[in-house]
Amino acid sequence: SEIPIREKNIVLIGFMGVGKTTVGQLVAKKLYRDFIDIDEEIEKIYNMSVTDIFRKIGETEFRRVERELIVNICNHKKLKIISLGGGAYLQEEVRKVCLSKCIVYFLDLSWESWKERLPLIIDSRPVLQNKTLHEIEDLFFKRRKAYSLHNSKITINNLDAETIANKIVESVK
Ligand code: S3P
Repeated sequence: SEIPIREKNIVLIGFMGVGKTTVGQLVAKKLYRDFIDIDEEIEKIYNMSVTDIFRKIGETEFRRVERELIVNICNHKKLKIISLGGGAYLQEEVRKVCLSKCIVYFLDLSWESWKERLPLIIDSRPVLQNKTLHEIEDLFFKRRKAYSLHNSKITINNLDAETIANKIVESVK
């Protein structure tokens, strides 16, 4: 596109619990840029956890606020590293703004590796609750298709956050 890489935001997408926030923080530090985690921003707005927002306000409203925040942040002139929640990129408006104003990195993990992380993240992820492992697997592969529009994919199976962050930093230099 017309905007040079150095003048773009960096956006991290991928399924819940793949490490978008951890990697994003590292990339921001290495590139001396501000980091923003969209879930954290929404939690600040409501002064509630994502779980409570889903329960008390509802997913529809969460998705509206999520979409508006992403559009605003992507259009802001100060360049950032941005971690999206795992469902954000399912919204067309989000994909559109990200692909025009940002370099989008898809952090991809195999189902086998991801499954091992499930117990660590399930309590704070309303989308995973009250689902069988099969239903979660379905969601994993459906979401993976939605993440297929990106500028770069990083397969993270055996990589630590530091290595992933270095790969991103090298690729934008
Ligand atoms: C969601 C992912 C979460 C959070 C919310 C919904 C999803 O973010 O936005 O629980 O629909 O995949 P993480 O990807 O950071 O877990």
